[in-house]
Amino acid sequence: MTAPLHRVRNYEDLEGPQGREVFFRPHRYRATDLSPLYAEVQLLGRSCALLDVSQNGAAFEWPKDLRVSVGDRLDNLAVRFDDHVPFKGEARVGSVREVSGVAIVGVSFEGLLLPIDEVLDLRAIKAGTQPPAPWRVPGHDHFKMLVSELRLYLEDAEKQLAKLERDLPWHVLHGEGSPARAALMEKVRNTFVADVVKATEEIDAAVRSVPPAHMPALVNWSRRHLHEFFMQSPSVHRCWQKPFGYPGDYEVMRFIYEKPFEGPNLFAKAISYSFDQTRAACAVRHRKDLVKRQLREMIDSRRAPLKVLAVACGPAQELVELLQEIRELPAPLEIVIFDQDKGALAYAYRRLKPIADARKARVVYLHESVKRLLRDADLFTSFGPFDLIYSNGFFDYLRQSTAVGLARNLEGQLAAGGRALIANMVPENPSRWYMEHHMEWHLIYRSRAELLEIARRAAPCARHQILEEESGVNPFVEIRRE
Ligand SMILES: C[S@@+](CC[C@H](N)C(=O)[O-])C[C@H]1O[C@@H](n2cnc3c(N)ncnc32)[C@H](O)[C@@H]1O
Repeated sequence: MTAPLHRVRNYEDLEGPQGREVFFRPHRYRATDLSPLYAEVQLLGRSCALLDVSQNGAAFEWPKDLRVSVGDRLDNLAVRFDDHVPFKGEARVGSVREVSGVAIVGVSFEGLLLPIDEVLDLRAIKAGTQPPAPWRVPGHDHFKMLVSELRLYLEDAEKQLAKLERDLPWHVLHGEGSPARAALMEKVRNTFVADVVKATEEIDAAVRSVPPAHMPALVNWSRRHLHEFFMQSPSVHRCWQKPFGYPGDYEVMRFIYEKPFEGPNLFAKAISYSFDQTRAACAVRHRKDLVKRQLREMIDSRRAPLKVLAVACGPAQELVELLQEIRELPAPLEIVIFDQDKGALAYAYRRLKPIADARKARVVYLHESVKRLLRDADLFTSFGPFDLIYSNGFFDYLRQSTAVGLARNLEGQLAAGGRALIANMVPENPSRWYMEHHMEWHLIYRSRAELLEIARRAAPCARHQILEEESGVNPFVEIRRE
């Protein structure tokens, strides 16, 4: 037998109470102390909310339409806990006070006592048989049904994919670049991934009308049903875990740009792939492509030197791809990229440096924070003015005043005719449920009108327009300096 955790004391060590405590008074229990029992006082056919109760009295809310005074005698007062009525008899009013407009009456029981031990025993049994249910909330049946269905689907898929995996050679599953692997990915994309993405979007639509007070329970519902499946994917797990302490670090971005089908087994890879195909992840790639296209057009059409600034650049995927695609630069190109994460810069440097050197593009890598840029509008002045400044996946984290302040400072760094491109996800993002319930990835979503408003406030004299990427959920506002 293991020893009890608390110290067992001798009779000689036991002390009674001190001071006024030596006068015994029955202990008062608040109604919440007796939860999950539902407690009330019944009087003259009314049910009154119980505040507290002891062996010899109770306090409760007095009905608004009845009069009461100290000293009144109340016949047939009953105290009820669920279906159990341990006290029914006479009581006398000892106090009347008002709390927030409600009369609270204190009564002492006459003649009989309330067997409080019985009530405590009942509470213990009910509490022991009723586990806490943080997922319980009335209604939202469609949402609950869709989430439960997805769970059943994933349970079955896990078994089926494990069976398929047993028949696959290692290199098809884990190796790169074979036709069989491409066929496997296509099969998974057209079946499992299509089903899962569709289901996540239906769930997202179902959760849109849920009042905020009910959301924690529904997050719990989602987690209980699905989290264990989603977390098998290394990319989804990293999104949720946030090992650097913030969402969307450069390793997460790498999963989205470079590694769609990662995981220790086929099911985990399939989950990764379904995250990769969500609209939000597609939007990340499309917005990167939009910046690439804009930059490409500028490079192709200009003969004068071009200066570019990438804000919070992460892995700078757009620049790596663009410079890989361009064999020769028609005019000098200078790029300043900055990020607060040295690891992101190191990764960008490793990939960009050889291609940029080969094309004689000059890249300046700055380990800087936007925080400094907000304090010092001239932080980048010595490198500018810039023909193009762009920010992807960053304004979605900024409060309105910060967003306006940053946009203003960026516009201040533009050359005449230069453009700032600022991306922000819109509230319609159908991957929102997946991101919020399972990854705790919360963005500050903005409508196109709100994006334009930021531009107007930051640069009232500039020209503004919305640019759309292919997913339709991650537009840019373009600020063009006249
Ligand atoms: C979601 S990622 C986007 C990266 C890149 N723009 C892209 O779209 O691939 C956000 C990036 O912002 C960077 N970041 C976050 N806060 C920052 C700050 N205060 N100053 C500079 N960079 C920051 C992070 O380190 C991360 O690389």
